Formats: sequence, C-alpha cells, structure tokens
Amino acid sequence: MIRKTYVEIDGQILEENILNIKKKYPDYKYYIGVVKNNAYHHGIKCVHDLIRGGVNYLAVSSLEEALKIRHYEQKIPILCLEPIEIEYIYDAINENITITVDNLDYLKSLLNLKINYDLKIHLALDTGMHRLGFTTKEDLSIAYSLLKERPHFCLEGIYSHFATSGVMDSYYDLQVKKFLELTKDINLSEIPIVHMGRSLSLVQHEKLSFCNGIRLGIVMYGFNQSMAIDNSLKGKIRAFKRRQIQKKLSCSKTILTNDLHVKPAMRFYTSIISKRRVIPNDYVGYGAKYKIKEEGYIYTLAVGYADGVNKDFKTVVIEKEFCPIIADCMDMILVYSKKEYELGCKVEIFGEEKNIKEVLKTTNQNAYHLFNQISNRVIRVHKNKNDEEQITY
Ligand SMILES: Cc1ncc(COP(=O)(O)O)c(C=O)c1O
Repeated sequence: MIRKTYVEIDGQILEENILNIKKKYPDYKYYIGVVKNNAYHHGIKCVHDLIRGGVNYLAVSSLEEALKIRHYEQKIPILCLEPIEIEYIYDAINENITITVDNLDYLKSLLNLKINYDLKIHLALDTGMHRLGFTTKEDLSIAYSLLKERPHFCLEGIYSHFATSGVMDSYYDLQVKKFLELTKDINLSEIPIVHMGRSLSLVQHEKLSFCNGIRLGIVMYGFNQSMAIDNSLKGKIRAFKRRQIQKKLSCSKTILTNDLHVKPAMRFYTSIISKRRVIPNDYVGYGAKYKIKEEGYIYTLAVGYADGVNKDFKTVVIEKEFCPIIADCMDMILVYSKKEYELGCKVEIFGEEKNIKEVLKTTNQNAYHLFNQISNRVIRVHKNKNDEEQITY
C-alpha cells in the first residue's frame, strides 16, 4: 500500500454478526445476505465471512455484481434484484444467477427464449414501494400459470420490499396486506422462498408466518436499527405513548426490546503526510477561512472528500487525541493539534476510538450513505483470523 489510506474490514466480526442474528432469529430457512455495491462497500471478500456465519443466499443489484461474486464463490445462490436485459439471460443461466421478474411483459419476452438449462426466477411484487414489481393479482396469476407450463423456467421465489419501518406508521401493515391480496389466487406454499423483510423489519417486527426468507443488509454490517425502548420509567412512558400512536393508526404492535448484538466491521484509517507549525492569525485552507487562535500544528492527512471524508466528520483521532478537522480538499484534509506528532503517524477516521455512530451524527446521514460514499480508490484491507488481504477496485 503506497498511500496509507484504507478501510479495514474485520471478517471475524461479520461472521459473528450473522451467527448472532441467526441465534436470535432462528426461524427463517433462507438468510439472504444483501451484498450490493461490493457488500455495502465492505469489499467482495466479505461474502466468505457472511457464508461462514450462515448466510445461505446472496442478493445483488446487477448481473455485473452477481458475476463478480460468482468468481469468488461458486456455489451459493445469488439473486439479482434488478431485472436484467433479456440478451444477458444466458449469462445468468450459465453462472447460476437467479433473476427477478417484475412484470408480465418482461416475463413474456423471457418465455420466448429457448433454454435447455434451469433458470431460477423470483417474482417481485410492488406492495407500496413503487419501485419494481407486479402491481395486480391478475398479472401475477397469469405469470404464475405461464411459469408452471414451461420447463426450465423455475419459479423459486416471490418477494417484496418494505418502504417504512412500521413503528409509527401503518404503511408496513398495508404492505403486508397488499402482499397477501396480490398473492391470493396463487399457491404461496408451492413457492420455495417467500421473502419480504429487510434488516429493520427483522429487528422491529414479529416474523411474518408466510415468509421463510429474510433479506439482511445493514444489520449484517453491524447496524441494529431497532428503536428499542428500555425498562426504565422513561422507557415505559415512551412505550405507552408508542402504543397509543399505534392504536390510533391501527397498526400492529412492534417489538419494544432488542438484545441483538452486532458490531460495525469497518474501520477507516489514514496517515499524516505533512505538518507545519502555525501561530495565531495564520490562515488555513481554501478561502483562508480558518484563522489559527493558538500556536500549534497543522497536520495534512492523505484523505479528502474524493475519498468520502469531509469537514462534517468534525474530528479524527491521532494517538487517542480527537483533533478537529479545520479544512477539507479533494484529496487531503487539514487537522489541528497543539501536540506534535510524527510524519507517517496512523490516524483513525472512525473505528476503535471514534465510533462510526459519531460520524453519522455530525455528518447527519445514515450508515447506508456513509458506507457508500467511501470511494473505490480507498483500499479495503480485509482481515480474518488467519489472513489479511488488500483489495483494490
Ligand atoms: C430489495 C432490497 N432488499 C433488501 C435490502 C437490504 O436492506 P437493509 O440494508 O435495510 O437490510 C435492500 C437494500 O437496499 C434492497 O433494495
């Protein structure tokens, strides 16, 4: 590694996260690990950790992503969540990639193909997200019948996606209702995999009896989004108020407690590439916007907003000291300290000393955005019990 700016991924933590999820929620048959965009930017090697932990299906966005993963992992079934163009269907068949069918016209074009090997299909239903999926039970019934007639077109799954948490809204219940309405005329129990939920639904709601699969995304990477309420007096009042709102909205009860243990597996580091002494009234950075108040040092770090780090991160950690970021540039950020540190010193952007949640607070974003904004030029160092590997994209 030449530029010492890297994200470290702890594969052991990912594996333990899955083990803990499965221990707490053991009633699913299919734990579908969502590994879009290089496993939420954790790096493709993570699929091995997730599988070791017990994920037994993967889901990605595109065929390109699926093929990349197939190169790493030959056996695990992989579902492509976006419909893929008909001309690439043979690639999906050759590499055992499961496809999503989300409307009747697409299915009809698909059925025009002559195929001699099995193509696994999951039907997507639009229950309220209005992004992808069948919208009427008539179209769905036709699709179901058409698929039954054709060998090699294997209807393996059916799914939908929740738009809301369902904690203080009735939209979750409406989506469940819509799923059951749409599937009224087909025999759900004949379809091997039925999946609706994502991380938030897992931690916040009881298992849906007709689902045997769950799609796990952010929770696998260490974020438990549960809006849990503790047993304190304050907690009890909050729980009461929540129930009142839920009653008013006629939405189903949600799970109040949460003792699922998952930990973020990602840590982000850079290093000091330059330093200078500054005195009061010196100006720093573009626009000469920052004026030094006290004598000290400006440290230039090899990370900038092109890597996904900007002034909103507020601080970085150098040898346990939280140093303020006072200017950001495309490739470098400038931090201040009264203390002197060596050139080349390791700097933590988030990880052990600075919890990733602190970054989410000051950048005012969620973990999905944060992970995905760390650019591809930042090397991923994937660690496990026995090995360490650098991955570049
Ligand atoms: C269809 C689908 N399922 C599951 C997920 C995973 O969601 P989460 O990370 O909230 O678990 C996503 C995430 O983008 C998705 O698009």
